[in-house]
Amino acid sequence: MKRREFIQNAALSTLAVGTLQACNTAIPEQTKDVPPIPEADGNRSPLVISTWNHGLPANTAAWDILRAGGQALDAVEAGVRTAEANPEVSSVGYGGWPDREGQVTLDACIMDHKSNAGAVAFLQHIKHPISVARKVMEETPHVMLVGEGALQFALDQGFRKEELLTEKALEAYRNWREKSQYKPVINIENHDTISMLALDVRNNIAGACTTSGAAWKMHGRVGDSPLIGSGLFLDNEVGGAAATGLGEAIIKTAGSAMVVELMRNGASPEEACKEVVDRIERIYRNSPDREYLQVGFIALNKAGGYGSYCLRPGFNYAVQHGEMESTLIDATYKIS
Ligand code: GLY
Repeated sequence: MKRREFIQNAALSTLAVGTLQACNTAIPEQTKDVPPIPEADGNRSPLVISTWNHGLPANTAAWDILRAGGQALDAVEAGVRTAEANPEVSSVGYGGWPDREGQVTLDACIMDHKSNAGAVAFLQHIKHPISVARKVMEETPHVMLVGEGALQFALDQGFRKEELLTEKALEAYRNWREKSQYKPVINIENHDTISMLALDVRNNIAGACTTSGAAWKMHGRVGDSPLIGSGLFLDNEVGGAAATGLGEAIIKTAGSAMVVELMRNGASPEEACKEVVDRIERIYRNSPDREYLQVGFIALNKAGGYGSYCLRPGFNYAVQHGEMESTLIDATYKIS
């Protein structure tokens, strides 16, 4: 079987329930309270998928937690933090390209298998918005905090205020300012969000989504990434979905929630992602914004099936589970 066929089959089929391999990895701090891996029921092989090339190192960080029997929630937080901390990733966290005022503003959300959710939007000066989102989920009666309120909350929780605009991002901004034209370059200026979904050994799903949003956006603009239902959604009875691409298009279709609902009604992960991409394409068919429209979804179901679909070529996602090395897969696309 050719590699591509193998990957497609793997993506569409149910993963075998596996025995967790023994490993010597030290259990990370945040998973110490997790009970031992169940002997029988629920002892399944974990799985993690995430968007774009930066999903590979993110999956590695998540996998260290998953294979040690840790919780999906800890895994997705640790996973996407790698992209938030990496100054070479120009669309997430530290090193993210700024808005048209030259300010880096960040959006993130996180969700666990009990449908607990937390989010921050338009947050400045904090390198790890995903961890602030988790604090919102765990320490407040709310789901989302934005702007100054989110920053104040983060500082109260002990997060450090930092400069997130790197020299490289500042140079890119100065170059953009010469024309100040807002017309994102597909798969570059909207080559964006890291979204991650994980299934742990207890068969619980969690998801995380974090971004600096569209480069050169209006100051105050918030995309899909911190919006539960748009950038990320999951239902532990069904599966999870997460998005990347032009946030406005994803919000208009409640994209990730729709993918999960389509799976609930019997669609495979890829079929569900495709249906929502098709809807977006129809909405934008006569829009001038179609020129720079790119959207993509990743999804997984409770049986361990996963898939993806995007509008145009160029979107890829990283997968890791017990039967394969961490691998980048080109998403199936609608139009060339
Ligand atoms: N998908 C990220 C954004 O549009 O902000």
